Amino acid sequence: MKKIFNPESTEVTHKIIGGDPSGIANFSKPSRVIYKTIYEGMLDRTWFPSQVDLSDDIKAMLHLTEEEVRFYELTFGKLIFNDSVITNRIMDNFNQYITDPIANACLARQAFEESLHSQSYAFIGDDVLQKANGDSEKVYNLFKTDDMLLELASNINADYGSFDDGTEVEAGHLALGAIANLALEGVSFPAGFLAIWSLGDKMKGSASMITEISKDELGSHLPLYVNLYNHIHTDAELDKPKYDKMAKEMLIRATEREIKFLKYSSEGVLGFSDPSIENFMHWVCNERFRELGFELHYSKADTTDGLVKIFKNYSQLNDTKTNFFEGTVKTYSKQNLDMDF
Ligand SMILES: [Fe+2]
Ligand SMILES: [Fe+2]
Repeated sequence: MKKIFNPESTEVTHKIIGGDPSGIANFSKPSRVIYKTIYEGMLDRTWFPSQVDLSDDIKAMLHLTEEEVRFYELTFGKLIFNDSVITNRIMDNFNQYITDPIANACLARQAFEESLHSQSYAFIGDDVLQKANGDSEKVYNLFKTDDMLLELASNINADYGSFDDGTEVEAGHLALGAIANLALEGVSFPAGFLAIWSLGDKMKGSASMITEISKDELGSHLPLYVNLYNHIHTDAELDKPKYDKMAKEMLIRATEREIKFLKYSSEGVLGFSDPSIENFMHWVCNERFRELGFELHYSKADTTDGLVKIFKNYSQLNDTKTNFFEGTVKTYSKQNLDMDF
């Protein structure tokens, strides 16, 4: 665990973990420029949930089928869990071991964004669910009342291992913690985004809110953890093949449980067949494997399938043309707030 203030430090170049930083953040001299780039990208596309217009969704909700309402609520129940948990994971479990001050700034900013996402769900609860069906609280308790959501949430939480039981945290645990975050950001969230975007023709405001959230999760947080995972390996000289194998297993586990939950939550919703759900999640997992430089686990997914197309259409509407995986930023944008779907 790093010292917060350490005037004896003579460190010039900061390691990602196991370093001995003074505690002073100097953005003029980042040890790894990629973290400054990611941080600046996060700042540049600052948005606030109050900017998203949800007013049409109240009436639209009354025209959803019973199955679609269930899908909508179960999805937000999951997203609420995801953002609540990751905010604390970053601040309470992760950041205290990260010894590059600019990477610390990325985690601080990420925590702010995850809180912003949690606040977004309050707008969905208060402005849509409360007004449409008089119940804004139900989605917050679904993780307790729905056995399948509880199982999913418990398994997501279990991926983090023993961060909060007082056991000493070692480099390998941090590497896998980065993958647990990556599984949440890059496997679990996309399944939820797809669910809300699939109702996007009807629930335009909700789809727009999810679009803003997706830009943070997929555009910034995902590459942050790909970089952290790789740099933890470099700086701690871990046995990469050993951890890569565990990382792959964790991501495949995450994919399979999201398939199960998508099948369950989308029951009776048009367009969500079992093969289509499996194809979509395999495509998502393949994308993560590609970003991590892993050999693909699933055979090539059909990118012309309806669900992949929905996801691509909505995420491309917000293409920030940012390639943080390669450390280059072409343009920044927050163009989507008034976008008409
Ligand atoms: Fe989030
Ligand atoms: Fe995130």
